Amino acid sequence: MTNESRYAPFFRLLPGIPHMQEGHTPYFPLLVRRLLQWAQEKELLGGMTKDEIDLAASLSVYHDIGKSMLRPTLLYKQRLSPQEYDEIKLHTAWGEFLMDLAIPELRGTTIHRFACEICRYHHERWDGGGYPDGLRSWEIPGYVQVIGLADAYDALVAPRSYKRPLSHQMASNMIVRGDCGAFCAPLLMAFAEHAPVIQSEVYENFPAAQE
Ligand SMILES: [Fe+2]
Repeated sequence: MTNESRYAPFFRLLPGIPHMQEGHTPYFPLLVRRLLQWAQEKELLGGMTKDEIDLAASLSVYHDIGKSMLRPTLLYKQRLSPQEYDEIKLHTAWGEFLMDLAIPELRGTTIHRFACEICRYHHERWDGGGYPDGLRSWEIPGYVQVIGLADAYDALVAPRSYKRPLSHQMASNMIVRGDCGAFCAPLLMAFAEHAPVIQSEVYENFPAAQE
């Protein structure tokens, strides 16, 4: 993010908006930023500007803001019933609602659209197997697909109260294998090509789990 960004006025609002970092590493925003750059190189982002990439990366930390509306015990449970999983899924729509509530004066702007799309669509998947709307293919904005992949990967390598962190190798294998849902092939290719860099540079100072 640069201070010269045309979105600078919005960034001044950000510290006032709580976000949910629980279950993520501190490297998540950097992973998003790098993945967006690689996706841009593969022309998967429909000509997003550098400012827009910065904006999307900055907003990505709010993707789970809707979890603040869920029963806290749900977030730490190891095994969820189908009904509880349906409750968890609601965090996407809650997130969109909360973002709209936080920045109503920005309705109609790119900032407002990105903030709401990130919250609502980050669990949508390429084959329509995601939620909440079952969007498929390019119905899901390219930059949100990137954030969805980063979310899945970072969650795997991060320690969570109900699971042990996985190694980068195991996390990469799971993403590529489709264990975290389907992603578009060129995006997966960009991810796989850069997997060693993700481990050595993005998570350079992170005490990652070993094999
Ligand atoms: Fe989420």
